[in-house]
Amino acid sequence: MILEAKKISKTYGNSSQTASFQALDQFDISINKGEFVGIMGPSGSGKSTLLQILGTIEQATSGELKIDGQNVVGMNTTKLADFRREKLGFIFQDFQLLDALSLKENILIPLVLNKRSITEMEQRVQGISTYLGIDTILEKHPYEVSGGQKQRVAAARALIHRPSLVLADEPTGNLDSKSAKSLMKVLVELNSREQATVLMVTHDAVTASYCDRILFIKDGHLENEIYCGEERSAFYEQILLVQSTLGGEIHDVKSLRN
Ligand SMILES: Nc1ncnc2c1ncn2[C@@H]1O[C@H](COP(=O)(O)OP(=O)(O)OP(=O)(O)O)[C@@H](O)[C@H]1O
Ligand SMILES: [Mg+2]
Repeated sequence: MILEAKKISKTYGNSSQTASFQALDQFDISINKGEFVGIMGPSGSGKSTLLQILGTIEQATSGELKIDGQNVVGMNTTKLADFRREKLGFIFQDFQLLDALSLKENILIPLVLNKRSITEMEQRVQGISTYLGIDTILEKHPYEVSGGQKQRVAAARALIHRPSLVLADEPTGNLDSKSAKSLMKVLVELNSREQATVLMVTHDAVTASYCDRILFIKDGHLENEIYCGEERSAFYEQILLVQSTLGGEIHDVKSLRN
């Protein structure tokens, strides 16, 4: 088990205040090493909150969280920062690249923070950039490249230190369907080749159909869970079906058409 979370609750604001809001309610989730897991659910259902808590960026109000055998609840901030840098990789919807740095420097951030040798850094950056097809634009800056290229740089940065767990919040949210497909292929290949565990939030049924398993969240709790069988296309149909029963999917094209 790479991740084990039990009874995770999150209340934003002080629970005695009327303005407080319970985003997660006693949520349990376990992920095996090498799994590719998706999280879906209506807007505001708690997906990003869950991902941020599991990524140790945000603290749960209560609950237990173990990642790679280590208990992260109650870990002091310095140790937690080290742990996060070493074990986790993040891909965000809005890329979060630093414009002042070149693409190469952006990708290198996790290795620099982990104080790796220059030779190792050079080798890794070449390897992953070639793999992602961004090796020819490494000297450019984020504002000089396309959204799809930025997303691949963000993916390279998330993966360069070979994290045990990759957390992605709507990684294809800002991409056209072709770039989205190529990013998903990279993640799937990485997942199978390096046994990297991926946990990904997405609104998009096509993106989600690349997963092995999908958890559906509604109002901060687990509403449904489905596994991919032999056929990806059948899985895709099943995802659409569950999505339609959950409702409140503002990003769902079908509901916009009606
Ligand atoms: N910092 C915060 N302070 C107060 N409430 C918050 C905060 N962050 C999120 N919330 C609330 O918690 C709920 C869950 O938010 P979250 O961002 O996890 O939703 P989500 O499922 O990721 O939605 P989306 O699909 O729109 O990204 C929402 O009702 C949101 O308004
Ligand atoms: Mg979100």
